[in-house]
Amino acid sequence: MKPVFIIEHFGKEFFEWSLIEYSHISEIVGRNNLIITNAGKHVAPRLNGICKVQNKGVESLKLSNICLLDANAGKSLAPSDSGKFHYFLFGGILGDDPPQNRTRELIERLKRKRIKFEARNLGKEQMPTDTAVYAAKKIIEGTPLKQINFRDGIEVEISDNESVVLPYRYALDDKGMPVLSRKLVDYLKKKEGF
Ligand SMILES: C[S@@+](CC[C@H](N)C(=O)[O-])C[C@H]1O[C@@H](n2cnc3c(N)ncnc32)[C@H](O)[C@@H]1O
Repeated sequence: MKPVFIIEHFGKEFFEWSLIEYSHISEIVGRNNLIITNAGKHVAPRLNGICKVQNKGVESLKLSNICLLDANAGKSLAPSDSGKFHYFLFGGILGDDPPQNRTRELIERLKRKRIKFEARNLGKEQMPTDTAVYAAKKIIEGTPLKQINFRDGIEVEISDNESVVLPYRYALDDKGMPVLSRKLVDYLKKKEGF
């Protein structure tokens, strides 16, 4: 069975940055393999065409075989986990510096609702959600975590004399370039106030 990737959206607000990340995740895993949960009435209409949508939280789907991706988990995700889990769950949380560990809120809610899951890390560094999905997909397709190249903190040029540093861990592609949504680069270029 093909793995299903679930992003539990956090918060009622919906930032353009989140839409860019979710669209990128849809490109990475395919729209039929992606569910965004906890979307609510305000967020769901904006996700049209990029994934399956569930207005309520992930617990409402009553799933089993869930692997929750959490930087603080005791075990790292390994290729052998592909046979063990069907659903790979991530927090739809924007990165923060320093990290606030809001993924813990999701863990506590799942435990309260008696939803069974196991947690796995992708290393200890904080990744944006799209990078975490990219890395998890690579691992369950057979590439061990240690063989994926990452860069901590990337600098994105937004004009001839300005750049923005994104202080998170990004995966690198075969050419050594950060796996980054083109739309995010355009968004950063347009955004004022840096
Ligand atoms: C931007 S991170 C959220 C980190 C955030 N600082 C928090 O409050 O938890 C979004 C999601 O990506 C996944 N993620 C990010 N880095 C990870 C790592 N090193 N290992 C496992 N999952 C990770 C988790 O599912 C997390 O909820």
